[in-house]
Amino acid sequence: MCGIIGYIGNRKAYPVLIKGLKRLEYRGYDSAGIALLNGRTAIYKKKGKVSELEEYVKEVDTSGTVGIGHTRWATHGEPNDLNAHPHHSEKGLFTIIHNGIIENYADLKQSLTDQGISFYSETDTEVLANLIEYIYTTQKVSVEIAVRLALQKVIGAYGLVVLSNEEPDMVIAARRSSPLVIGLGDGEYFIASDATPIVEYTDRVIYMNNNDVALIKRDELVLKNLANDILEPDIQTIDLGISEIEKHGYDHFMLKEIFEQPRSIQDTFRGRIKLDTNEIRLGGLYAVKDQLVHAKRIVIIACGTSWHAGLVGEYLLEDLARIPVEVEYASEFRYRNPMIGPEDVVLAISQSGETADTLAAIQLARDAGALVLGICNVAGSSISRETHAGVYTHAGPEIGVASTKAFTAQVTVLTMMAIMIGSEKGLLDKKRSATLIRELNEIPDKIEKILEQNEIFRHIAAIYKDVTNALYLGRGVSFPVALEGALKLKEISYIHAEGYPAAEMKHGPIALIDEQMPVVFIATHDKSYDKIVSNIQEVKARKGNVIAIVTQGDETIRKMADHVIEIPKTDEVLLAIPSVIPLQLIAYHIAVMRGCNVDQPRNLAKSVTVE
Ligand code: G6P
Repeated sequence: MCGIIGYIGNRKAYPVLIKGLKRLEYRGYDSAGIALLNGRTAIYKKKGKVSELEEYVKEVDTSGTVGIGHTRWATHGEPNDLNAHPHHSEKGLFTIIHNGIIENYADLKQSLTDQGISFYSETDTEVLANLIEYIYTTQKVSVEIAVRLALQKVIGAYGLVVLSNEEPDMVIAARRSSPLVIGLGDGEYFIASDATPIVEYTDRVIYMNNNDVALIKRDELVLKNLANDILEPDIQTIDLGISEIEKHGYDHFMLKEIFEQPRSIQDTFRGRIKLDTNEIRLGGLYAVKDQLVHAKRIVIIACGTSWHAGLVGEYLLEDLARIPVEVEYASEFRYRNPMIGPEDVVLAISQSGETADTLAAIQLARDAGALVLGICNVAGSSISRETHAGVYTHAGPEIGVASTKAFTAQVTVLTMMAIMIGSEKGLLDKKRSATLIRELNEIPDKIEKILEQNEIFRHIAAIYKDVTNALYLGRGVSFPVALEGALKLKEISYIHAEGYPAAEMKHGPIALIDEQMPVVFIATHDKSYDKIVSNIQEVKARKGNVIAIVTQGDETIRKMADHVIEIPKTDEVLLAIPSVIPLQLIAYHIAVMRGCNVDQPRNLAKSVTVE
């Protein structure tokens, strides 16, 4: 949700900024802009993608060794050139990039307007630029103090970087709720929303905490809080290679990430499943293992695809570990006075570790005394730091806005947790846990076999690419898979799709079925197989087109369905992981055939850092 980047050092800032913005574009792509401080501040900004900005600045002087850049996901004000960041104050003394929302911007704007200050954009960010300038000019304080005083008046969330013509050899970065990372080079500093634009220059970083303000010069960084206390920076070494964030010859990041799943799932369970002793070891949960194993209830909180992984987790944890589980949208949980207390375990699931609603729900659960655990992909992210303990998914950076490998990695972690708790509680005997661990270990090979069928998925996509609606049905653990399949199609191809529990079809969606309607069934061999076969017949009786994901060798459904996709046999507990792969690929091919921007679907952003 908006990507921001800043640079101060001795190299030319522009290439660092533009490359960084391309890496951060997954966070928003409504407009892009840069400001370069070279004697005076020059701002270039444009509605549209970073590539359009790049084209726009081709003819201008982009020299300067200090600069900031922004790629926007619009909140206040429509995406246009004027509302694009960076924003400058009225007299031009301050220039800002901002990720987040200044909630009291209207009041602040009114009081500044009353002082005769005028505004050119509809953004909350311009208000902040003017507030800083107003304090600077009227109170005659330093740039640093003006920024801190202004931030003390702000209600809301921000990750921001400020440039000032008055102090051209310093940039100021500040964070509350929206993430910011500072990269430490040799006589240079990089500031960004996440580490991806920084890793090619340095592996030494500082993750800023809430209410931190960093005063950054070429050879010095001073970290303070808003109350002006000096803080000791916690410098960490990150383990993220540049090659992990490139496309490696794939047309899209999404395709690369789908095809990476055999490896990413292996990375998720590597070192955690012990085939010789049939054990699961989740180091991040050691300290809280007793409390988790004996939990009376687990409440899972998440958004989007992570919420779907949570629903799979509900089936797994209830089935294998016999712990009652509730799965909540973080945004609903936080606003409805939830019944939560010290006896509860709350499990937050998030790829980015930065989703605003999930973070707020975590805070609420912590305040209520619950043990809060996290399943995150991005190391060092806010959620990984705000939770008491947790497990990283280790799926590697996910750049495509539509989540794929993060989902299968999250389900892998949830599977390991469920087996671990079930075994600890004596609910799974040695033979059963050994079977499950062995089957989990075989999942990557089975996914390879599914990926080999890519041409079949492309063929099905070509047939259905022009439909306007689609239905995805599944039962048991395949119901969340149906939801996820429908979400993938909606997100990237803009076809309306609904996921539904197959048995519920009779209570509504069946009315939608006609010759035009593709109905995707996840109909693998499990305890509800016979029931789902009946559901397929009900759809065929109404002339719907059935695409069925079945277990290899299924001849019964082959006779009924219009298209059959076979996946290798696996334990029913593990079915969610392989059965989602064809759905990811069908959505991908349909979106490509419809000419959609697969990696950057309209209106979406990878990391939703606003409520
Ligand atoms: C956005 C992304 C989704 C993601 C959701 C939750 O909507 O586009 O792909 O599932 O946020 O994000 P998180 O990082 O918390 O998993």
